[in-house]
Amino acid sequence: MNLQELINIANKLVADDKGILAMDESFPTCNKRFAKLGIPQTEEARRAYRELIVTTPGLGESVSGAILFDETIKQKINDGTPMIKVLSNAGIIPGIKVDAGAKDMAGHPGEKISEGLDGLRERLGEYYQLGARFAKWRAVITIGENIPSRACIEANAHALARYAVLCQEAGLVPIVEPEVLMDGDHTIGRCFEVTEEVLHTVFNQLFKQGVMLEGMILKPNMVLPGLACSKQESSEDIADATMKCFLRAVPAAVPGITFLSGGQSAELASARLNAMNVRFKSKLPWELSFSFGRALQQPALEIWNGKEVNVQEAQKALYHRAKCNFAARRGEYTKASEKV
Ligand code: 13P
Repeated sequence: MNLQELINIANKLVADDKGILAMDESFPTCNKRFAKLGIPQTEEARRAYRELIVTTPGLGESVSGAILFDETIKQKINDGTPMIKVLSNAGIIPGIKVDAGAKDMAGHPGEKISEGLDGLRERLGEYYQLGARFAKWRAVITIGENIPSRACIEANAHALARYAVLCQEAGLVPIVEPEVLMDGDHTIGRCFEVTEEVLHTVFNQLFKQGVMLEGMILKPNMVLPGLACSKQESSEDIADATMKCFLRAVPAAVPGITFLSGGQSAELASARLNAMNVRFKSKLPWELSFSFGRALQQPALEIWNGKEVNVQEAQKALYHRAKCNFAARRGEYTKASEKV
């Protein structure tokens, strides 16, 4: 393990106002999104869609890294170039999702635990050989009646730390993703409480297990009201709540926080990231960036709709969303940014 190399990669992932593109949907998730639009759920359709993404002209202007799924990292674009090479040629660092999904947690109805630690050391070695330089593991925390439990938070934090330290051993920067879900009618205050507790528990485990904070990235949820909550706060209030929470819980040694979008609309995700940077950028120890999946891809996926003739328009939509979030990192995103 070369510590300086890990630090360099982590910093590069959040440098120059760029962000990370999550394109690592597993078979069930990708197929579900395709099915909703009537796109065939085949290996070839998934390959063609991922080719559309990685060959988007100019994507590297606002995207620093892309998180791939196991199937994609081994696939090629039509001309025979490996997807991973297409990304590297565009100046985009390739990453890989390595958790094996969030499964029902035994004894804890309504809660999930992410699996995938068995054999992880060997898989990480293979991914490094293929060219990946960072990885992602997502833990899911659900807010509901009497949940999350301490057991669920602790088990997920423990697994995140075990994954992170294995990544660093293998020369991969770990993206540590504890996601408090937006589903439900809970208030922003409840999301704040849970997110703060989750972050404290995660960083406690990262410390205990010897993860080097300078060589990792945190990928959290924003502090938001539940999707079904009757009170939906403004972007400014969400920015204030999120930063209050993170300033309490995230050590200054972490180079960057790259938010997930979690089911927010593409425009809201950009507006909220923008509000955080407008109000706090100069006062923060870490870079505030994005690692969006749906908030970057969804408009492009809908335009593509499985049809070759739509590829260019879909690529324009993806390029546009990446640019909007690049602007949000600079605190320069406005309604007018959407009209360009
Ligand atoms: P969303 O931005 O769609 O939540 O996806 C990010 C991600 O990588 C979830 O693990």
